[in-house]
Order: sequence, then structure tokens, then C-alpha cells
Amino acid sequence: MKRFLKIAGKIVGALVAIVLVFVVYIEVSYKRTFQAPPTGITASRDTAVIARGRYIVKGPAHCWTCHASKEAIARQGNDPGSAPMSGGVEFKTPVATFYTPNLTPDPETGIGRLSDEQVARAIRYGVNHSDHALAPFMMFQSMNDEDLTAVVSYLRSTPPVKNEVPERDLNLLGKMISRFLLEPDLKPDVKPAVAHDSSAVYGEYLVQAMANCRACHTKRDETGAFVGEPFAGGSPMETETGTFITPNLTPHATTGRIYTWTPEQFVQRFKLGKGPEGSHMPWEAYSNMSEQDLKAIYAFLRTLKPVDNKVASTFVPKRME
Ligand code: HEC
Ligand code: HEC
Repeated sequence: MKRFLKIAGKIVGALVAIVLVFVVYIEVSYKRTFQAPPTGITASRDTAVIARGRYIVKGPAHCWTCHASKEAIARQGNDPGSAPMSGGVEFKTPVATFYTPNLTPDPETGIGRLSDEQVARAIRYGVNHSDHALAPFMMFQSMNDEDLTAVVSYLRSTPPVKNEVPERDLNLLGKMISRFLLEPDLKPDVKPAVAHDSSAVYGEYLVQAMANCRACHTKRDETGAFVGEPFAGGSPMETETGTFITPNLTPHATTGRIYTWTPEQFVQRFKLGKGPEGSHMPWEAYSNMSEQDLKAIYAFLRTLKPVDNKVASTFVPKRME
């Protein structure tokens, strides 16, 4: 018995040592750096370029919905898209708490201390100013040079706001993901300049490079990986009062949510600017899109392969106990 306890003790000791070595290894190695290629983007002071950037930030790319605080948005009244993007908005996940950075040009706490290149690289490659991979909240990899220039130019033109934002806080699992899994896409499919019209081609660009409709309107598994047909809906999203389930956006005759909508009805729905209380969809931002751009998105959705996926209800309330 004594001998057994001795051996068991040794085994437990060895296991503890292995775990400790592993934890120390993760702690010292999880901050991997990545060398993103230069984008060549430099900010412009041209008012037309800045106006295009403002449009993208307020509308299709909805940057402010994550980078402006609730308070700043509330203070803005009926033009929430102009709320200062001084960051600090918390995103709690099971592996980490992330905070959106301050995107105003403040020289100490905002992008005033970063080069145009650093800001552009973060948006295009998901590599931040200290060369670390960003968590995949932003899907702007294919945004073309013209529009990325416009966005950086607009950010540079906004009033600086001092707001120190905490570093992200990863738990052990988060650090393991950062060490072994989180890889930025350093070879994205950057799109060429595109005509701004109501065509499906431009609609596809808006959807894929900015509006990110696919992220929510495609079914995922528990790890967040896409498992459903793109845009066919069925992705559940929890809120305090219940669960939203995204509708099918493909032009399927019986299960496609917008199959019977005319382009005008689609535009009107978006111009309403709000969804049911608690919906994840950034309706307010999308309502800033021009009628032409919304028609382009409609035209693109019409070109998708119809997928038979019935989403019976887009909201299932929590049962009250
Ligand atoms: C869905 C929420 C969301 C949207 C929309 C969003 N961001 Fe972010 N952004 C984040 C989060 C969260 C981080 C920090 C992630 C991390 O720490 O890993 C971040 C990080 C950044 C960074 C990195 C800055 C640095 O420290 O190097 C930049 C730049 C940035 N965002 C710009 C933008 C711009 C410009 C837009 C719109 C074109 C935008 N973001 C839209 C959530 C968002
Ligand atoms: C962050 C998640 C998210 C994103 C991004 C998103 N949606 Fe949604 N969408 C939802 C949810 C949740 C619902 C169901 C609740 C609601 O109607 O707001 C929904 C509902 C809809 C509806 C049905 C509205 C109705 O009145 O029946 C349409 C149409 C739609 N989305 C189109 C789009 C398009 C087009 C885009 C991109 C431009 C987009 N969505 C981006 C989450 C999202």
C-alpha cells in the first residue's frame, strides 16, 4: 500500500508538473506576432473621399455599432452613426473579454498614435498595431483600396476623444486559441474598384466586403464554424428575452423570407431602421444606406441559389418559469 501510494504520488506529481509546464508555455508564447504585407494606404484630405468613408462607416460597414459606446450613441439623438467612436465597448465571450479600440485621432489613446498603414492593416488583415491577430469580429478583408482609403481618411477627420481602453483579457482557453488557432488571413481576396450602381455585382461587394450579412444569416455550429448554406438562415442568437433565428435570404419560393418582396418593399423595410427589440441585426446603420445600394443588395440576394430551409419563426421567447 505504501509503495502504491508512493507511485501514485509520483504520477500525480509528474502530471502536475506537465500541466504547469504547459501553462507556463502558453503564458509565454500565446502573444504571437504576424507580419502583414503593406497595404500602401495613405489617408487623403479630399472631401469627396472623406464623405465616402463617412458613408461606409455609418452605413454598410456599421463600424460605430461596435466602436461607439451606448452612452455616446444615446447622446447623438437621431444621427447615431455620427457618435464618436472612442471605443471601450465590451464583448464578453467564453474565452475572453474584448474591448473595441478608440478609433478617434486622439494622440495618446486613439489612432492618433498609429500610422495610416497600421490602421489599414488592422481592417484588411485583422493584424493590430502591435502585430497581434485580432479576434474575428470584423470581415472587411475584401474591401478595395479606394474604400479602405476612404475609411481611414474619414477616421482621421473626426474629432479626437480621449478614452483609454483596456487590453483584451484572455482566459487560459483564450490564450490556447491565440497560441494554436487564431491566424489572420494575410492573403485576402481584395476586390478591384467597382462602379457604384444598383447592380448585383456592386450588391455582392457591399454584402461581402462591408455589410457581412452572411455571418448571421448562415447556420453555424457551437464552435462558430459555418455549417449551413450561405445566406439560408437558421442561425440562433440568444438574448435576455429569447432567441432570434435568422431568416433565409435566398430566393426560395416557399422558405425564402424576401421571396415575395419587391425591391421597393426591401428598401422600405431597411429604411424603417429598426427590428424587434433586442435583434442583433444593425438595422439603424443599414438604414443609412442609399436606396441605390439597398437595391444593389436586393439584386445580389436575388442571384443566390434558392435553398429550401424553413425558418418557422425568427423569435422564440424564453419560457417564464
Ligand atoms: C462587430 C463589431 C465590430 C465592427 C462592426 C467593427 N469593429 Fe473594429 N474591432 C472590433 C473589436 C472587438 C476589436 C478588437 C478585437 C481584439 O482585441 O481582438 C476591433 C479592432 C479594430 C481595430 C484595431 C486597432 C488596433 O488596436 O490596432 C481597428 C483599426 C478597427 N477595429 C477599425 C474598425 C473599422 C474602421 C470598422 C468599420 C469599417 C470596424 N472596426 C468595425 C469590433 C468591431
Ligand atoms: C449581427 C447579425 C445580423 C447581420 C449582420 C444581418 N442580419 Fe439580418 N437579421 C438578423 C436577425 C437576428 C434577424 C431576425 C430579427 C429581425 O428581424 O431583426 C434578421 C432579419 C432579417 C430580415 C427579415 C426582416 C423582416 O422584417 O422580416 C432581412 C430581410 C434581413 N435580416 C436581411 C439582412 C441583410 C440583407 C443583411 C446584410 C446587409 C443582414 N440581414 C445582416 C441578424 C443579422
